[in-house]
Amino acid sequence: MKTYKIAAIPGDGIGTEVVDAGVEVLKALAKRDGSFTFHFDHYDWGGEYYKKHDRMMPEDGRDQIKNHDAILFGAAGHPDIPDHITLWGLRLAICQPFDQYANVRPTRILPGITSPLRSVSGPELDWVIVRENSEGEYAGVGGRVHQGLPEEAATDVSLMTRAGVTRIMRFAFKLAQSRPRKLLTVVTKSNAQRHAMVMWDEIANQVAKEFPDVTWDKMLVDAMTMRMTLKPQTLDTIVATNLHADILSDLAAALAGSLGIAPTANLNPERNFPSMFEPIHGSAFDIMGKGVANPVGTFWSAVMMLEHLGEKGAAARLMKAVERVTADHALHTPDLGGKANTRKVTDAVIAAIDADNN
Ligand code: NAI
Ligand code: MG
Repeated sequence: MKTYKIAAIPGDGIGTEVVDAGVEVLKALAKRDGSFTFHFDHYDWGGEYYKKHDRMMPEDGRDQIKNHDAILFGAAGHPDIPDHITLWGLRLAICQPFDQYANVRPTRILPGITSPLRSVSGPELDWVIVRENSEGEYAGVGGRVHQGLPEEAATDVSLMTRAGVTRIMRFAFKLAQSRPRKLLTVVTKSNAQRHAMVMWDEIANQVAKEFPDVTWDKMLVDAMTMRMTLKPQTLDTIVATNLHADILSDLAAALAGSLGIAPTANLNPERNFPSMFEPIHGSAFDIMGKGVANPVGTFWSAVMMLEHLGEKGAAARLMKAVERVTADHALHTPDLGGKANTRKVTDAVIAAIDADNN
């Protein structure tokens, strides 16, 4: 029997609550399926680890997880530690060296969930956002001099490379081609940013020629926020830079009902390194420890992990179980206006998996 080795890295805050729930659901799914099992290794890296060791993960941390089949991640972020330390010390410390350059974020209005957009129904909002995940505005290039003095200066330089932009464009066109509508929107800001973003547009044009059956258009990022809210049905696959997609995907998650539902995959498409799957939300200081975090974003991320591992049947079974649970308003957590807690939603998803006889 096939055993998948999964590195579970819950991180901090509600990350620990939702990853525990995700591990439970994946175990139930493997038991129900019978043709594969999971071996989970748990890593206590994050803010509490930092307080003891002065770093977010051990020096050989990446070596410890580089041979796993996938990583299930919670959230990086601790109330006592600055965000740039937690983010760069853990999440980006895994994403960047493991070359997880394609960040994929599906957005749909699941059954039973109401979009804040008046009059938008499920089938009218079905997007996948592809975020460039290795360079651009988050390349980490820049510096600070004369700190604290009146003449202090600081830069964050957005670095784009032809290789980096070409591979993310190819990935996005290919993904758009695999979806029924074969429709791609390339988000840009080449009116105001006249170097790297102009190269971004040029490369989109060049790569588009390899995909003559994909219909594509270009949209300035500011106008894109309007199109997402006013004409969601005109969009399908979307590709954007690291910063632009970071912002647009939070908007997408909110338009689909809640940040607590939205999943993400950090993919190394060449499979030289493990890929990482996580809900898009953070550690949510305001609700941590209360047991009310919505675990659906983690469950949907687990669906993406199963697809990546090639377990299509199990992926579909889990998605169906999640949709059965969201359809029931009595099983909604407070972020969706309900009264259910993480435990109740997790139990309901496991019950739906067990009750599925296909
Ligand atoms: P956040 O995503 O943690 O929370 C934003 C709001 O959404 C909060 O009101 C929270 O209660 C709610 N929310 C988020 N996930 C939820 C869930 N599963 N169920 C119910 N409600 C949910 O973003 P925020 O507050 O900006 O950041 C908190 C910390 O998390 C910061 O340290 C930040 O750096 C970190 N962060 C980490 C991320 C990651 O590891 N990928 C992503 C975003 C933020
Ligand atoms: Mg974000």
